[in-house]
Formats: sequence, structure tokens, C-alpha cells
Amino acid sequence: MSTGELSGKVAVVTGGAGGIGRATAEMLVGAGARVVVGDLDEERGRELADELGDAASFHPVDVSDADQVQALVDHAVERFGGLDIMFNNAGIGAPLTRFLHDDLEDFGRIMSVNLFGVLVGAQRAARYMKGHGGGSIINNASIAAVNPGAGMLSYRSAKAAVAHATKCMAIDLAPYGIRVNCLTPAHIQTGITTYDMAPVVRYMQPLERQAQPSDVANAVIFLSSERAAQVTGIVFPIDGGTTAGPPLAQTKLIMSSLKTPETHDDGA
Ligand SMILES: NC(=O)c1ccc[n+]([C@@H]2O[C@H](COP(=O)([O-])OP(=O)(O)OC[C@H]3O[C@@H](n4cnc5c(N)ncnc54)[C@H](O)[C@@H]3O)[C@@H](O)[C@H]2O)c1
Repeated sequence: MSTGELSGKVAVVTGGAGGIGRATAEMLVGAGARVVVGDLDEERGRELADELGDAASFHPVDVSDADQVQALVDHAVERFGGLDIMFNNAGIGAPLTRFLHDDLEDFGRIMSVNLFGVLVGAQRAARYMKGHGGGSIINNASIAAVNPGAGMLSYRSAKAAVAHATKCMAIDLAPYGIRVNCLTPAHIQTGITTYDMAPVVRYMQPLERQAQPSDVANAVIFLSSERAAQVTGIVFPIDGGTTAGPPLAQTKLIMSSLKTPETHDDGA
């Protein structure tokens, strides 16, 4: 059932065939938007578009190729008559290799997909939006963009650059009524996260709750809507409080040999 909040809007979701992108494409259609799913994975992308019906269309894209990204934007305009929302979400992961052991062989591909793909996606969408009433661009970075850590240096660097570039784009594109915001999700079970989430949830997140792709999709809906009309240039954590600080469970673990913080009657 459509909530109608984004009715009449046209969206492009890159990396829309899987994980976070898929959940977002589904929620956008649920909110009344028409959606172009762009992805390298043609089979899953077409399957999803078929499931979503007339409000969706699939278009193959490798976001590291500027001409293909342009064709994706053109497809949205031709098929649905415009473009109001661009979710630059496609991304690839990287092994947790420590810096001194990293041969940096995947540096080029990570930068091309995770950084260039976002820049060119935003640029081609904005070139259309500029003359057509503005729009909302949302770039998917990662907690790795804001929280430093060991290993995955190329991935972290690309994502940090996405967060910074988002703010620059927000300033550059504001005169055209184009808002640009960035999301920094953390630890959601998808195609690129193959590790055990349980210890992460327990010892890294203040909110002891497993994040879902739909948590990111909800933020995209908000940032796409008129509710966020005054919001641009933000880096929006969807991380259960991880960037706020360590959870109580971690503090208790560290302090157990010293003095355990007070435990309340409710067990917290
Ligand atoms: N899952 C998490 O915990 C998490 C946390 C922080 C950030 N992210 C970011 O979220 C985004 C989506 O990832 P996900 O977790 O849903 O993973 P996923 O692997 O399930 O989805 C990524 C999608 O992008 C597509 N894709 C990959 N390279 C592409 C390319 N060059 N061109 C077009 N499409 C391409 C894949 O085919 C896939 O459908 C990524 O940018 C990722 O870095 C994920």
C-alpha cells in the first residue's frame, strides 16, 4: 500500500538489486515514487523491478563508468519523465587486511566504484535537476567514513571522501535547490558483510539491536521528502549510537577487573 509521501517523484537507486539498495527501492515505491533500479547484477535487478511492477524499471549500470551513469539518469527521465531523488548507494567491500599487509591492488577499483561512482552519480543527476526544480541527492558512505579503525584503508579512505564531498556538493548545488546529504550506516547483514554481527552489536553499539537495510531506507525516505526541506550537507549516522561512544557492555568488560559500574534493578 502506498503512503503517498513521495507520490509523483522519480528516484534512481544505484546498487538497487541487493541489500540496502533493494530495501530502499521497495520503500520508495511504497511511498509512491517511481524508481529506476541501477545495478551491475542484471538478473537480480530485473527480478526486483518485475516484483515492484509498473512503478519500477531496471537499467544495468557500472557506476564507475560515467557514460553508463549518464545513460541511467537518461533512462529515468525517458521512462518516468524526470528525476527528483538520486540515491548513490552502489558500493563494494574490502577484506579486513591490515595496512602493512595490504598490496593495495584493489585500491583503484574501490575508489572507482565507492568514490568516483558517487561523484559522477551526483553530478549527472544534478545536471538534470538544476533545470527541473531541484532535487535530493543522497550518498551512501559508511561508519568507516567517520570512525577510524585498523585495516581496510582503501575502503575507509573512499568512504571518508564521500562524506567530505557531500558537504562540498551541498554548498555548490544549493543555489539550484538541490540538497545533498550523506548516510553513514554500520553493520547491516547484506552481501558485503560476512562477519558475525553478534559481538559487534553487543560490544560496539549502545543500542543492542541488529541494524536492518530498512533502517537506511527510512533515512532515504526522510531526506527525499519535504520534511527534510531545510536539511543539506549532513552526515547522518545510522549506527545504533556507535559514533556517540562505546556501549555500557564494553565499559563493564573493561572495568570488570576494577570497579564495575553500578547495575540498576532493571539489569541495565
Ligand atoms: N552493509 C553494511 O553494513 C554497510 C555499512 C556501511 C555502508 N554500507 C554501504 O552500503 C552500500 C550498499 O551495500 P550493501 O551493504 O547493501 O551491500 P550489497 O552487496 O548487498 O549491495 C551492493 C549492491 O551494489 C551493486 N554493485 C556493486 N558494484 C557496482 C557497480 N560498480 N555498479 C553498480 N552496482 C554495483 C551490487 O551488485 C549489489 O547489488 C555500499 O556502498 C556499502 O559500502 C553498507
